Amino acid sequence: MKSWPKIGGALADYVDANWLRESPLKRRLREQTGKMRQAGMQISAHQGQQMALLARIIGAKRAVEVGTFTGYSALCVAEALGSDGKLWCCDVSEEWTAIGRRYWKEAGLDNRIELTIAPALQTLDGLLAKGLAGQIDMAFIDANKNDYDVYYERCLTLVRKGGLILIDNVLWGGSDAKLKADQRVELTLFAVGDGMTCALKR
Ligand SMILES: C[S@@+](CC[C@H](N)C(=O)[O-])C[C@H]1O[C@@H](n2cnc3c(N)ncnc32)[C@H](O)[C@@H]1O
Repeated sequence: MKSWPKIGGALADYVDANWLRESPLKRRLREQTGKMRQAGMQISAHQGQQMALLARIIGAKRAVEVGTFTGYSALCVAEALGSDGKLWCCDVSEEWTAIGRRYWKEAGLDNRIELTIAPALQTLDGLLAKGLAGQIDMAFIDANKNDYDVYYERCLTLVRKGGLILIDNVLWGGSDAKLKADQRVELTLFAVGDGMTCALKR
């Protein structure tokens, strides 16, 4: 599998220095996670800010996250959903997500976030079984890369027309060519982190 460097350099440094609006709480979570051996899995502050803005642009109230880790992206998105919003999170690690849960509570956002510890496919199928097909405004896929195709298909069913599917790390997976040919969505790639695909359901 082809691997690519992270998008970075002078432009990323400039954005981080001049365009970040990160609350002290988010920064604390990012810095705590930054000390972990698995820190590289965390999205950047800039990516979190972009995701939150995308959620606000489409007026998202219901979102799904596949891959939560220590909860930084969930914190950014849940905040943007507003007080009547709901975010369903999928992860398999009690240990990592316990860190997120503490910060979500401190931010007063824990009541908007429903985290299920189970393989994401099982959780996504559970949401479909609850009748949430076409009811979700935004989905973020950021978990085990080998299942991205199946996560994408489930999320495409869950998301409404005009809803967004964000997919992290596409530059690592080589799935870009397949996505590019998918006529069910409008597409772009945000040059942030390892590259984040943004697919809008037609
Ligand atoms: C790249 S990290 C997510 C980063 C997170 N979005 C953030 O903002 O920091 C990937 C996560 O996917 C989770 N994961 C791995 N395999 C999974 C599976 N089959 N189902 C659900 N989650 C899984 C891992 O436990 C890990 O927390």
